[in-house]
Amino acid sequence: MQNLNSIGENHVPVLLKETLEALKVDEIAHSKEALQGAPERSSGRRGRFIDATLGMGGHTEAIVKLGGRVLGIEQDPRSLEVAKTRLEEALLRSKKSFGGSETCPPPLDKHKNAAISRGSYTLVHGNFKDMGKIAKDYSFQDVDGILFDLGISSFQLEKERGFSYQDPEALLDMRADETSQEVRAADLLNALNEGQLREMFSEVMPFYESKILSERIIEARKTKKINSVGDLLSILGSLPGSKKSLNPATLPFLALRVKVNSELENLREGLPQSFRLLGKKGRLVVISFHSREDVIVKKFFKEKENEGLAEILTKKPIIPSSDESERNPRSKSAKMRVLEKK
Ligand SMILES: C[S@@+](CC[C@H](N)C(=O)[O-])C[C@H]1O[C@@H](n2cnc3c(N)ncnc32)[C@H](O)[C@@H]1O
Repeated sequence: MQNLNSIGENHVPVLLKETLEALKVDEIAHSKEALQGAPERSSGRRGRFIDATLGMGGHTEAIVKLGGRVLGIEQDPRSLEVAKTRLEEALLRSKKSFGGSETCPPPLDKHKNAAISRGSYTLVHGNFKDMGKIAKDYSFQDVDGILFDLGISSFQLEKERGFSYQDPEALLDMRADETSQEVRAADLLNALNEGQLREMFSEVMPFYESKILSERIIEARKTKKINSVGDLLSILGSLPGSKKSLNPATLPFLALRVKVNSELENLREGLPQSFRLLGKKGRLVVISFHSREDVIVKKFFKEKENEGLAEILTKKPIIPSSDESERNPRSKSAKMRVLEKK
């Protein structure tokens, strides 16, 4: 078991500066209305954001440091623990630099040193497909911005839950939330028929490769149940046509993870709920990591714009600079899109 206290320390959030700018956190949290408590929103509050994918709390920490208030939602109880520890430590550090004052107001010209108060964030174990209800429960409606930073974090990849193909001994589990999900990746590989397997893999893989892989799985499980990461790796071998630049396990593992955690369905359910929670001029920021997610986001944004309810602020997605991609290889495939509600 990893030590949760040290895990979040070196975590670098993807497209952090771009996200904070897109959400206009600094501007909103330090607007005259927010500082004087004047009710610009119908809820009477400004500077409130929802982090739909809290993860290790990287983006949330930055928003809170700039003076925003955050409702953070995370499906994985262990990630939630990491985020809690990370934010508490950030609070302690900022308390020290302010001589122990927990309620020190943010200096107007140096927002980056603003104190973090526990009252600035609420962390919730839940799924963003239930965001409407969660936000209502915590009176977080009519908000200024909502962030989705999709997928899984490096912390989840490193754990022994079968998300990564680097650990052949690990059980092929891949459930992000063991408290609410029952079906593991291995269960799918042992139970789905050939057509269902093909359908699952072809969500992210070329059809021909999906077909070959499905046939191999059906064949392999006749002699031995598939249980571990290593079992799947030995079935994979080398698939014909696999991109040389990509590990042949990357896409099959991604397909399984997406299916086990209903990632595409959750996104389709979460986006419209998030849009309803935005106040006037509120912004929806979505960072996706593969084309199936991006297609859903693009389509949803276009629909809202065509309905005359919103404006797309990113005609082309924002991608990480070459410097960020080099420093943080996980960011390489990130695409950020921003929508503003009218
Ligand atoms: C890429 S990480 C987010 C990292 C975070 N922005 C940070 O800087 O620490 C994505 C996180 O979202 C969580 N997640 C994915 N889908 C979710 C869902 N439907 N509901 C709630 N959390 C979800 C994952 O468990 C993971 O911890």
